[in-house]
Amino acid sequence: MDMLVVRGGTPLEGRVVVGGAKNSALPIMAAALAADGPSVLYDVPDLVDVSTLSQLLETLGVNVRRQQGGGLRLEVVDDERFVADYELVRRMRAGVCVLGPMLARRGKACVSLPGGCNIGDRPIDLHLKGLRALGADIRIERGYVIAEADQLRGADIYLGGPFGSTVTGTANVMSAAVLADGVTTIEAAACEPEVVDLGNFLNKMGARITGLGTPFLQIEGVERLTGAEHTVIPDRIEAATLMIAAAAAGGRVEVENVCPTHMTAVIEKLREVGVNCEVSAAISPKHSTIEISVPSSLRPADVIALPYPGIPTDVQAQLTALLCGAEGISVVTDKVFPDRFMHAAELVRMGARIRREGYSAIVSGVSQRSGACVMASDLRASAALVISALAAQGESVIRRIYHLDRGYDRLEAKLNSLGANIRRVKDEPANMPASLAPAIIDGTRPNAVSAPHWLAKTPARQTRTI
Ligand code: UD1
Repeated sequence: MDMLVVRGGTPLEGRVVVGGAKNSALPIMAAALAADGPSVLYDVPDLVDVSTLSQLLETLGVNVRRQQGGGLRLEVVDDERFVADYELVRRMRAGVCVLGPMLARRGKACVSLPGGCNIGDRPIDLHLKGLRALGADIRIERGYVIAEADQLRGADIYLGGPFGSTVTGTANVMSAAVLADGVTTIEAAACEPEVVDLGNFLNKMGARITGLGTPFLQIEGVERLTGAEHTVIPDRIEAATLMIAAAAAGGRVEVENVCPTHMTAVIEKLREVGVNCEVSAAISPKHSTIEISVPSSLRPADVIALPYPGIPTDVQAQLTALLCGAEGISVVTDKVFPDRFMHAAELVRMGARIRREGYSAIVSGVSQRSGACVMASDLRASAALVISALAAQGESVIRRIYHLDRGYDRLEAKLNSLGANIRRVKDEPANMPASLAPAIIDGTRPNAVSAPHWLAKTPARQTRTI
């Protein structure tokens, strides 16, 4: 297993390019299951989740390969298979996206339930409700969803849940309804840009979906879909992560290949805390560059993560890390995954002051944070820890970064190209920086050097909990 060793305190400078969106690429790849003939996808990021889904699709009879020039080619070569195995689905929640397209095309899908996750409950009841409404017979047996339907039929479906709509649920139901007999309407559909991107891809394959980007979708079923070419939209979560990293570390950074209209809420929030965000249409109106700089100290702000077009829950942890260095008190609430605060305890280890109150985290800004050994608990929490480590003085170690690799394409290489100092090493005692070794902190062993100055001056920081 690898870990990151981050030496903080250096401002970031330069240009960095955002890749294609993970959360678009995964359901789009899964939708290729429903097509006749090859599809070629461009700007599919090189991530562990993409290779896990590729493996899963291979087991389902899809030939997946990277072409010269970077396109990902997918073609169904065997449509007699319908079991999405636990060993692959458990590694990545988006594995559940094969359910809708496989059911619609093959009449049967047997998909392992995706299981729990560190960001809170992640049920799929709305996915199943939508597919049942389309006429599927669904049962759960031995940890698998078994869905069957000779022919799906159009229906009126309401996909609202206690925390808003569902992104992958909308993807699943939409990808099934395109091959249903008759017209389907989906109310309370997710409006996220990644759902729109999937809908655009399905329409290129011959589907008839209208209303994309609104909560009301109308889908006229068609008899067959054919493979298509598609370029995945830029990853708004990666863009936000790089922008927040630049703001936390200071300096001036140009983030390229951004769709600013997908990021309005994040840009507005960054401006509110005092970050300059200059948007320029460098490539095309849809693919701009955003220049980030921080003229003075950061102001506190209240952040509420909401479904699109609100601040994404996938950026909540990174914004929390940024607000730890603002001058004053911020309140962070997540209305999509209310318990998504595993990162808070680790940020506290770096000197942040965070207290949970109900479904919110109260963040009291501190003027200085110090490097520490911390543990990543999920994908976006890992990014928050990297951001905090860049802003902290001294060295930090971030362990369990396999979470980070699931969803970011070479995040540390991109940050290093901006002047960050991040090393990827094996997670072994020999690689632990001397400044974080227990011998130094307890000061009692014969080889102890001395307690770090921050420990001596501010002992309370090391014992804060949330
Ligand atoms: C997707 C994203 C994830 C993001 C999340 C919210 C992918 C691969 N993942 O996850 O990065 O954090 O959207 O933007 O695109 N819910 C139910 N019943 C359901 C489904 C969901 O109650 O059947 C609840 C969830 O517990 C959660 C909320 O609805 O509170 C939103 O979840 P959902 O949009 O489904 O998240 P995912 O699609 O799993």
